[in-house]
Amino acid sequence: MKKQKILITGAAGFIGYSMCKKLVQDKNNELIGLDNLNSYYSVKLKKERIKELKKAKNFQFFKLDLLEKNKLADLFRKNKFKVVYNFAAQAGVRYSFENPESYCNSNIIGFNNLLNLVRKFKVKKLFFASSSSVYGDIGPFPKKENSKLNTLNIYSLSKLANEITAKSFLKNSKIQIIGLRFFSIYGEWGRPDMLILKYLLAAKKKKNFELFNYGNHYRDFTYIDDAIQIVLKLSKSKLKKKFDIFNICSSKPIKITEILKIINKLKIKTKIIKKPMHTADVLKTYGDNSKVKKIVRKIKFTNYKIGVQNTVKWYKKNIHLFQN
Ligand SMILES: NC(=O)c1ccc[n+]([C@@H]2O[C@H](COP(=O)([O-])OP(=O)(O)OC[C@H]3O[C@@H](n4cnc5c(N)ncnc54)[C@H](O)[C@@H]3O)[C@@H](O)[C@H]2O)c1
Repeated sequence: MKKQKILITGAAGFIGYSMCKKLVQDKNNELIGLDNLNSYYSVKLKKERIKELKKAKNFQFFKLDLLEKNKLADLFRKNKFKVVYNFAAQAGVRYSFENPESYCNSNIIGFNNLLNLVRKFKVKKLFFASSSSVYGDIGPFPKKENSKLNTLNIYSLSKLANEITAKSFLKNSKIQIIGLRFFSIYGEWGRPDMLILKYLLAAKKKKNFELFNYGNHYRDFTYIDDAIQIVLKLSKSKLKKKFDIFNICSSKPIKITEILKIINKLKIKTKIIKKPMHTADVLKTYGDNSKVKKIVRKIKFTNYKIGVQNTVKWYKKNIHLFQN
């Protein structure tokens, strides 16, 4: 089979790393990962992910920012990428209230730079990370891809901007662009700014854990291996439309307190300070995954209890990675 060159941005990040780990297993793939290795969370963790990936002969890493237009263009010039996955972004809803500028830079300008190059160098397919946050906070649930959108912050706005600009880039080009609306992805090698690892780290430091809305939030938690399996299957499928959007979710919202209960059963506990609703949060995320299931067909979602247990097990072995 012919070798294909693939670019993955955000390769040192949670989803980018997990996708690379899967793609390197196919020796016909030649992967190039890029990431600016920013310090939004533990750089040690990001570097360790890259160290893991470099064990594969068909993976190369470049420390590069999506804003470094010329260097990015050089990378495209030297490599004839067939497929590009964009997972590089400033993630996190709450942080968008603290540092809105980083969302404008990485998510809007950075993404636009990438789109220009993808078109100029005639890449065949672009997959990019959008987010469940584009749905905002209003029912009815579950959210379908064509449900009404309601962006409530600069993070979700940047994701919606990506969807709109990506679609407009299709004109006069043969590229196929697929948006992936991820819902609360968790698992091994996960993000320390998200619920499970945040709680585990608070427990390790014997710090109080602030539980907003008294823990009455629901999130459509989706295990990383399931999300990657779906994206991989989507990549291998012959998709009809030039532009499409898919929810990537288990479609089983779980209450936050239920997740904490499972962690507590594993004998990890810290003092919880119950607080009212955080301004950045939405009460519930709950996606409909029937559209993607029609394409990827058989997909057995990991039970959240198993997913959380796996995450905790991995964390216990890798505590050293979480010191910035
Ligand atoms: N993890 C989730 O639950 C979730 C949910 C919805 C959407 N998403 C989206 O999926 C994508 C990946 O998320 P993640 O959880 O892996 O986040 P992450 O923060 O772990 O990964 C993003 C990576 O991008 C890098 N990066 C940021 N700005 C960059 C820039 N300008 N140039 C180069 N690299 C840059 C960061 O250093 C980081 O390693 C993001 O777009 C995120 O918004 C994630």
